[in-house]
Amino acid sequence: MTLTSDERELIRDSFRSVSRNRRQAAARFYEILFDQAPQTRTLFVNDMEQQGAELMSKLGLIVAELQNLEGLAPVLEDLALRHVAYGVKPEHYPPVGAALVQMLAEFLGDDFTPETSTAWTKAYDDLSALMIRSAYTREDSHTAS
Ligand code: HEM
Repeated sequence: MTLTSDERELIRDSFRSVSRNRRQAAARFYEILFDQAPQTRTLFVNDMEQQGAELMSKLGLIVAELQNLEGLAPVLEDLALRHVAYGVKPEHYPPVGAALVQMLAEFLGDDFTPETSTAWTKAYDDLSALMIRSAYTREDSHTAS
């Protein structure tokens, strides 16, 4: 994990701030995502309010464990594998990250500094790389020498 402790603090503080309006934040996140990446819309079949609550809750767990994302690897691998079953492809991860950052920018306003933006982008890149690696790497490529 390449985040500095300052960056982890920026992420924790900004997520705590957004969490005060978590329902609206989640709803806005999906609105941005479906606007920017309409191909992801049909992947979501269940109640979107419930989905938003689960997303924010999981992000809260991840944000709390940022200093040791590898320690969360089993949880994140399971999450990533469930996403394969939902029909999610590796190329869906970047638009989700972009929608997340845009939602944060809108909700945080002036508090969304360039440093906060960089910290979130790095964190999401690490998170999505870990999830993609664990869910889409072919078994035999682990063992091939
Ligand atoms: C990278 C961080 C992500 C996190 C933390 C996250 C979190 C979650 C959580 C907590 C759920 C609830 C179900 C479960 O736990 O299995 C879920 C479901 C889902 N996520 Fe994600 N997700 C992420 C990335 C993505 C991406 C990149 C996509 C692509 C569009 C996506 C699409 C979905 C879909 C389609 C569902 C199922 C919705 C349904 O049942 O209707 N997620 N996600």
